[in-house]
Amino acid sequence: MSSLKDCLVVILGGSSGIGLATAKAALDEGANVVITGRSAERLARAKLTLGDGARAVAVDSANEEGIRQLFADLGPVDHVLCAAGAPVAAKRLQVDTAVIREALDIRLLGDIYVAKYAAPTMRKNGSITFVAGVAAARPYEGSPVTTAACAAVEGLARSLAIDLAPLRVNTLRPGYVDTPLWDRVAGAQREEYIAKIAKKLLVGRIGRPEELADAALFLMKNGYVTGTTLTIDGGFLLV
Ligand SMILES: NC(=O)c1ccc[n+]([C@@H]2O[C@H](COP(=O)([O-])OP(=O)(O)OC[C@H]3O[C@@H](n4cnc5c(N)ncnc54)[C@H](OP(=O)(O)O)[C@@H]3O)[C@@H](O)[C@H]2O)c1
Repeated sequence: MSSLKDCLVVILGGSSGIGLATAKAALDEGANVVITGRSAERLARAKLTLGDGARAVAVDSANEEGIRQLFADLGPVDHVLCAAGAPVAAKRLQVDTAVIREALDIRLLGDIYVAKYAAPTMRKNGSITFVAGVAAARPYEGSPVTTAACAAVEGLARSLAIDLAPLRVNTLRPGYVDTPLWDRVAGAQREEYIAKIAKKLLVGRIGRPEELADAALFLMKNGYVTGTTLTIDGGFLLV
């Protein structure tokens, strides 16, 4: 396993949840970390938690020029994690097409922009990790857009692993994880919703962001892993 010490690790969507936990874990291993997100306020809060080793840049992953500029400014990068995104409830696709397009812009095109503009500047033993979700393998009611986006990202990673080699490209596929995302999705029913899911999982609880961060660091550091989708889901795909 290679070390992250003094590596430059860029985390798109690093101001909250899985991205923020990964930023903390990378800093603990001695990396220099850049986090991104849209909200300057959320980025400032995250930066306070992370301390001096982290830089925060406000950029929308759906903005091609913003992503191009980010990697042009940063210079050689070692590892990138793309954690920006959120599920979209779209039962029978009865949701405004603008909402569908935005979701695909962030998750699929956002990941494409990262690969397009980061890869040429990345060090040879570096890696790109996309964050998808278990919806790719196990759709649920209302998930067609989320499932399509996650499955497309997994395919993108496998294909880019070939095109960009020796750079490694992988996908992290989380199951249910306790992050601020669920404040927005479930609102006041958050705890009830999470408890219901936890009961069904083989491990009896939903995941912690730190557990996903641990997996993200594994994908960055293990030089033999490429073109892989790593599921971290407490057994969700089996129940
Ligand atoms: N938590 C789960 O249970 C779960 C399960 C499966 C998959 N996932 C996926 O894992 C990823 C991370 O989820 P999370 O739970 O950590 O969510 P989170 O706590 O809501 O964090 C999402 C992060 O992405 C950023 N972001 C969102 N849209 C962005 C955009 N257009 N450009 C740049 N940054 C953007 C957010 O900041 P701003 O809003 O300020 O931009 C925030 O930093 C998401 O793609 C999510 O769908 C999560």
